[in-house]
Formats: sequence, structure tokens, C-alpha cells
Amino acid sequence: MVAVTPETGTSGGVDGGSADLGAQLRADFDAAVAAEERVEPRDWMPEEYRASLVRQMAQHAHSEIIGMQPEANWITRAPSLRRKAILMAKVQDEAGHGLYLYSAAETLGTSRDELLDKLHSGKQKYSSIFNYPTLTWADVGAIGWLVDGAAITNQVPICRCSYGPYARAMVRICKEESFHQRQGYELLLALSQGTEAQHAMAQDAVNRWWWPSLMMFGPPDDESVHSAQAMAWRIKRHSNDELRQRFVDIAVPQAESLGLTLPDPDIRWNEERGHHDFGAIDWAEFWDVLKGNGPCNEQRINQRRKAHEEGAWVREAATAYARKHTGTGREVQA
Ligand SMILES: [Fe+2]
Ligand SMILES: [Fe+2]
Repeated sequence: MVAVTPETGTSGGVDGGSADLGAQLRADFDAAVAAEERVEPRDWMPEEYRASLVRQMAQHAHSEIIGMQPEANWITRAPSLRRKAILMAKVQDEAGHGLYLYSAAETLGTSRDELLDKLHSGKQKYSSIFNYPTLTWADVGAIGWLVDGAAITNQVPICRCSYGPYARAMVRICKEESFHQRQGYELLLALSQGTEAQHAMAQDAVNRWWWPSLMMFGPPDDESVHSAQAMAWRIKRHSNDELRQRFVDIAVPQAESLGLTLPDPDIRWNEERGHHDFGAIDWAEFWDVLKGNGPCNEQRINQRRKAHEEGAWVREAATAYARKHTGTGREVQA
């Protein structure tokens, strides 16, 4: 990949020369990405590539930290110490995922403060799935199995994303998401094999989370605005519909093993396609929740703003501590 050095940055000299240089940098960038080379923070990159990555990584980071809320709702009511410890570890992992991703986004020249401001003011989005409520304990299982499961399906290919810091952050995140998916599956299995009431609770949770989980892959390919470019830049590797199909194919046999049904009478194996067919998704609901009209949009963002305000003293203390130590370091050097 081409690093921007003072030499390459000024070698154009005359106007025509710098236009040629821009075209050359662009051509080199496209060729490197096509050859599966990684783009690193100091490499030259088109502004649209940078902006597109910031948008996607910010949305991803925001989803990680907003996603802590629906599950944290059940920490105090977990049915055993074991379940409580697992859930706390999981929610804490999600905070960690947010931190890796904000840090990775900062390598593109933005700052965590700026990204959080955009989240709080509604200029940047988070995944709509977190605008649904967690009504029962079984929802913790359904989120782990379906929501973290859909997230893994989406995110494993990002481990091969063209932007180095994003790809590397995803390797660790996917390992942890895999644990989240299994804990959800194990929780649902315990409920499904429990009393009649527990089984019904597990089934109800799956009924409510199934369709929103399918929506997590984003709009159908022909309506997805960013997809084609993201695939050309090797940020994305597979289309929304392709990933959604992969997820359905994984989930169907898992639901059978769980002894639970998926709330879609149209699911059936299609021998010809070698995939499961499934029913039509209610995209009107998807767009409506995205617009802010989901059951918990307001609650989630208000809670996030409140947490940010209440955490101001921690950020101030951390900044003062860092400043003090940098100061000491300089004195020692002097
Ligand atoms: Fe996560
Ligand atoms: Fe997760």
C-alpha cells in the first residue's frame, strides 16, 4: 500500500502534475485493494473510502454499547448466580467491543467524542434490533442465539476487510461473539427442556426476536445504497441477502435441536437452491423502527445520554491523570 510521504505529497509541483498524482494514488489504491492488500492508517486512501469506513465502524461501535442496555435490564433478575456471572461478562464484552471499534475508527482521523456526539444527536445510527424490549428472561437467550448469531454471520467476513485496524478488531470480537451465541443457545435449551411455562417463555422470545434478527442484515440487495461500493472496496464481502440466507440455513436446524419453532410457516428446504426458503420480511416495520418509531428508540438514546453525562467526571479524572503523567514524563526527560 502507498504511504503518503512528504516526497510523494509534493512531487506533483505544477497543477497538472498534482492531478496526475491524485489519479496515480487512486489507481494504486484500487489495485492494492483488488490484490487483497490491507490499507493501514497512514496509507493514502480516497476520502469516500475513509468516510464510508467511519460511518460503518461508528454504527458498529454504537450498536455494541447501545446493545448493552436491553440485556443489562436482566442482570439484577438473573435466575441464578451462574447466569448472572455469565450475563455480566457478556454485557462487559459488548462494552469492550465498543472500545475496540471506537479506537479503530479514531485511526481514520475522527475522535470518540465526535462519534458519541453524533450518536447522541441522532446523526449516526445504531442497529435497530436494540430498539426492541427484553420482556422476559428468555429474551436474554434469544438475543444470544439469534442477535449475536446474526452479528457473527455479518461480522466474520469483516475479519478480511480491506482496512487493517477494523479487520484486526473483528478477529477478537468474533471470538467473543461466538461465546455469546453459545450462551444464548444453552440458556434457551435449558428453558425449552424445562417446565411447560419455561418452554412457552422460550418459544415466545424466539417468536418476537426472529424477524427483527433477519432485518439485522439490512435492506434487500436491490435497495441497499452502500452495498455495491462497500463490496468493491472489500469492506463488505457478501451481500445482505446472501448473509441473511446463510443465517437462516444455520438457524433452522439449530431451532430443531432446541425443540423450538421459528415463527415462519414458509420456511422449507429448497432442494434446487440448496437453501431454505423463507417468508417475506415486513420491511415497513424495519423502516419505521429505523425512523425512530420502534418500541424503545427514545428510551435507549435517553439512557445513553444520561450515562454519558453521569460519566463526565470519570472522563475528566482520566484526562487529568493522563496529563499529570505526561507532565511528569516531560520533567524527567528535561
Ligand atoms: Fe459485540
Ligand atoms: Fe455479543
